[in-house]
Amino acid sequence: MGHVEISHLEYYLPDGRVLFDDASFRVGEGASVALVGANGAGKTTLLRMVAGDLQPHGGTVTVSGGLGVMRQFVGTTGRAGSTAGGSEQEAEDGHELAHDASVRDLLVSVAPPRIRTGARAVDAAELAMVAQDDEKTQLAYAQALSDWADVGGYEYETIWDVCTTAALGMPYDRAQWRGLNTLSGGEQKRLVLEALLRGPDEVLLLDEPDNYLDVPGKRWLEEQIRSTAKTVLYISHDRELLANSAEKIASVEPGATGSEVWVHGGGFASFHAAREERFARYDELRRRWTRSTPS
Ligand SMILES: Nc1ncnc2c1ncn2[C@@H]1O[C@H](COP(=O)(O)OP(=O)(O)OP(=O)(O)O)[C@@H](O)[C@H]1O
Ligand SMILES: [Mg+2]
Repeated sequence: MGHVEISHLEYYLPDGRVLFDDASFRVGEGASVALVGANGAGKTTLLRMVAGDLQPHGGTVTVSGGLGVMRQFVGTTGRAGSTAGGSEQEAEDGHELAHDASVRDLLVSVAPPRIRTGARAVDAAELAMVAQDDEKTQLAYAQALSDWADVGGYEYETIWDVCTTAALGMPYDRAQWRGLNTLSGGEQKRLVLEALLRGPDEVLLLDEPDNYLDVPGKRWLEEQIRSTAKTVLYISHDRELLANSAEKIASVEPGATGSEVWVHGGGFASFHAAREERFARYDELRRRWTRSTPS
C-alpha cells in the first residue's frame, strides 16, 4: 500500500536561512500520519519535497506505490511567488492551472501521469480540429481518442462521474466544463479528495485538506482517513480532525538550527503530554550538560 521515507533532509531558504538541517521520518504502509506545527514551521515545504516539487539540498526521499497530491492551494504548486494564474510550463507540468480552468482540468491535474498525458492529447487534438478541420487533423483526433481508450480514459471518466456527483451533486457530463472559479473553496477541496481517494495512487499527500470544509465535510474526511487502505500523510491545524483521524503525529518544531521533526507513535489525544515530556527531558539534559561543563 505504499510508503514514504525521508532521511536526513536538508533544506535552505533562498535567503540562506536553514529550514531543515536533518529531518528524518517514515510513514509505513497504510498508516495515517498528521504533520503538525506552527505557521511557517516548514510543513508545506516538507510535503513539497516529498511530492518532488522542491529538491532538498541534502538527504533522500523514497516513495513507493504512486503519489497523489492535494496542494495547500488547490490547483497550484504553492510555489512562492506563483499565482493561481500559473505559467504555461506549470500548466504542462500538471500542477498549476490557468485562471479559466475547468472542473475537468482540475480532475486531470490530480490524475496519474498516463491519464494526464492522454487527456491533454485529446484536448490538443480537439483544439486543432476547431482551427483546421482537414483529414490530417481528423486522423490525429481519432488517434488521440483511441489512445485515450487504451490508457483506460473512459473507465477513468466513470470514476470522475462518481466524484462530481458526490462533490457537486451533478454528473461529470454536466460538471466537466464548469469553471473552477464557480466552485466554492469547499467544493474544490471535496472534488480533489474524492478523486484522490478513488484513484489508484497508494500514497496521498494532503496539505490542509480540511480547509474550507464544513462540519459534515470534516466528519466525512475523518472517516475517509480512518478507513482508507491508502497511506496518508496530511497537514492539519484542526484539533478535532487530528484527534479523530491520525494514528501518529509528526511534529515540526522550529529551532535555531532549523526545524526538528519528531514522531509521536500515538494519536493526538496523547500528543501534548508526550511533547511536554520530551521538552522536560531536553531541559534536564541541558541542565546536566551545563553542570558538567566547566565555564
Ligand atoms: N521562497 C521563499 N523565500 C523565503 N522564505 C520562504 C520561501 N518559501 C517558504 N519560505 C518560508 O519558509 C517557512 C516555511 O514555510 P511553509 O509554507 O513550509 O510553512 P508551513 O509550516 O506550511 O506553514 P502554514 O501552517 O502557515 O501553512 C516560512 O517561514 C516561509 O515564509
Ligand atoms: Mg503550509
